Amino acid sequence: MARAQTSESACVHSADMGMRPRRRHHALVPRLRREPRSRIVGCASIGQTIRKAWRRGPVRQWWNREAASAFTPARARVRGSCIFAPVLPLRAIFPGKRVALRAPRVSDAPRIVEIRTRSREFLRAWVPVPGPDEFDVDLARARILRDRRDIRADRHYRFCMTLGEDGPVIGRVALTQVFRGIFQNASLGYWVDVEHHGQGFTTEGVTLALDVAFREIGLHRVQAAISPHNAASLAVARKCGLRDEGRAARYLQIDGAWQDHLLLAVTAEDWPAAPR
Ligand SMILES: CC(C)(COP(=O)(O)OP(=O)(O)OC[C@H]1O[C@@H](n2cnc3c(N)ncnc32)[C@H](O)[C@@H]1OP(=O)(O)O)[C@@H](O)C(=O)NCCC(=O)NCCS
Repeated sequence: MARAQTSESACVHSADMGMRPRRRHHALVPRLRREPRSRIVGCASIGQTIRKAWRRGPVRQWWNREAASAFTPARARVRGSCIFAPVLPLRAIFPGKRVALRAPRVSDAPRIVEIRTRSREFLRAWVPVPGPDEFDVDLARARILRDRRDIRADRHYRFCMTLGEDGPVIGRVALTQVFRGIFQNASLGYWVDVEHHGQGFTTEGVTLALDVAFREIGLHRVQAAISPHNAASLAVARKCGLRDEGRAARYLQIDGAWQDHLLLAVTAEDWPAAPR
């Protein structure tokens, strides 16, 4: 309150004194919005140790070389000790042969609630206990806004899988828990509308998501945790190139019980189109 009053009175004061309004500032805003925004994706979380070593010299070369060869995503730039990658635009659409991935839109809420509701029993055994925002359109809208903020913040990428580029949403494919720094990893998750399963759509959607992970947002590794009893999901993951890494005891709470899961993963080195 006090701050608002102060700035308001400052404006009045400058107008009274015949000063020019601060137009330069306003003129800059649209230009800044048009410019591609980028974020640090490499060595963002290197700690004091490396930062100190960086000042000493030789690590600078080592870090740049290692970082650039291992993690640099398409269109990224290495500046100093940091790798900058463009922020994924929310309007981006990643088309495949039959399905496409894109960020969820607020207008998707009724459709997402519709397919989630009719798939409730189909999904129950394999996905975490759903929250109320999966079955209520208003809460789903709020959740979509959160999903969009998460994409901009490089935290989670929860995509909608649509039939064609403009078709209805038929499922979700997500890269969540994005870790940067020396891990550059995300967890893969997916589900499809009960009326669209068994037609190869998820395999296509997951392939697109891995392409986004390695080519667009510069991840190095994508992992999935799948119940050993979930044959369809295991088939999808393996078809998409994830390899088995082992079994984790009581790993996730699904359908009210802590259940063992198989861990599968794929790294950029295995992805033919990933930048080297
Ligand atoms: C897992 C899931 C996303 C797969 O979606 P989908 O669109 O049916 O997947 P696809 O059609 O692309 O591929 C399914 C593959 O599983 C295979 N499959 C399906 N049921 C199977 C079973 N009982 N045993 C062995 N393979 C099976 C299919 O044959 C197919 O492989 P193919 O193309 O080589 O024949 C969907 O079943 C689902 O939403 N399940 C519930 C949620 C879930 O499990 N999410 C993953 C959590 S880890």
